Amino acid sequence: VKKIAVLTSGGDSQGMNAAVRAVVRSGLYYGLEVFGVQRGYQGLLNNDIRPMDLRSVGDIIQRGGTVLQSARCKEFVTPEGQQKGADILRENGIDGLVVIGGDGSYQGANKLSKLGIKTMCLPGTIDNDISFTDFTIGFDTAVSIVVDAVNKLRDTMSSHERSSIVEVMGRHCGDIALYAGLASGAETILVPEVPFTIDEVANRMRQNFEHGKRHSIVIVAEGVGRGDDIAKGISERVDVDARVTVLGHIQRGGCPTHNDRVLGSRLGDFAVRKLIEGESGKACGIIKNELVLTDIDTVVNTKKGFNKELYDLASRLSQ
Ligand code: F6P
Repeated sequence: VKKIAVLTSGGDSQGMNAAVRAVVRSGLYYGLEVFGVQRGYQGLLNNDIRPMDLRSVGDIIQRGGTVLQSARCKEFVTPEGQQKGADILRENGIDGLVVIGGDGSYQGANKLSKLGIKTMCLPGTIDNDISFTDFTIGFDTAVSIVVDAVNKLRDTMSSHERSSIVEVMGRHCGDIALYAGLASGAETILVPEVPFTIDEVANRMRQNFEHGKRHSIVIVAEGVGRGDDIAKGISERVDVDARVTVLGHIQRGGCPTHNDRVLGSRLGDFAVRKLIEGESGKACGIIKNELVLTDIDTVVNTKKGFNKELYDLASRLSQ
């Protein structure tokens, strides 16, 4: 490859900028021409592509969001849109593409790869829902934000002997709820991967009260349902003052943690080196702290496993 482009797509995540910076600077280091596509696949279809130099990615490693901006693009889901995207890349002489995003972005990259564009994917999403990588870029920061919020909620819940129902992001994957719940000592963690009934949640809360706990924290992954509905179900069964907090997009902003910056930097550089070695149609990930490549096809067709061991640990420790 001689000319590569990088784009960020889907929901943004903290650390995407570190990954963009790494793609640009490693690409230039290895003698490639590097381009940035603005606004994800939508920008690609609009030919919104600009050359990137060393300074174009200066002063961004510490920033949340993505300087390349992002979009969810309906047109790119169609075969016509994908063909147009591949044609535009070719017209610009671009023969390699690094896509940073989540599952939907991977599907698009997979199609481009089948249309002959050399493609690499990096897992950029707070959800941690991509298979063949232990962690995605942004997950660590999002979990830290939730933990910080729960610390604050605990203070006031404890003062008033209330129960806090905290709804966190994660449409199909409960990892944010799981890790944040374990790290913040939540009494109950509700995730899409583990079936539960409101009766069980209420009974557990009742038992905790009998053991002297006067306040409690319930973390609910959005994939399970709305925090409001969970709170209503609990209040109908137990005599508690349940208050709901929906953390929403707060979880997607702010300064990335060092873990997300290091992960984004390592994966961005890895993707460039693998493109130069001739790899294509691959997803970059990190497993047991080793950088790994897996076919995008395999990644998009494999559901990420759930860490039941951590879930059971959180449950044992929260009595
Ligand atoms: O996929 C990342 C994510 O933040 C999910 O956790 C959430 O459900 C979704 O994006 C929200 O998307 P949007 O910002 O487009 O509303």
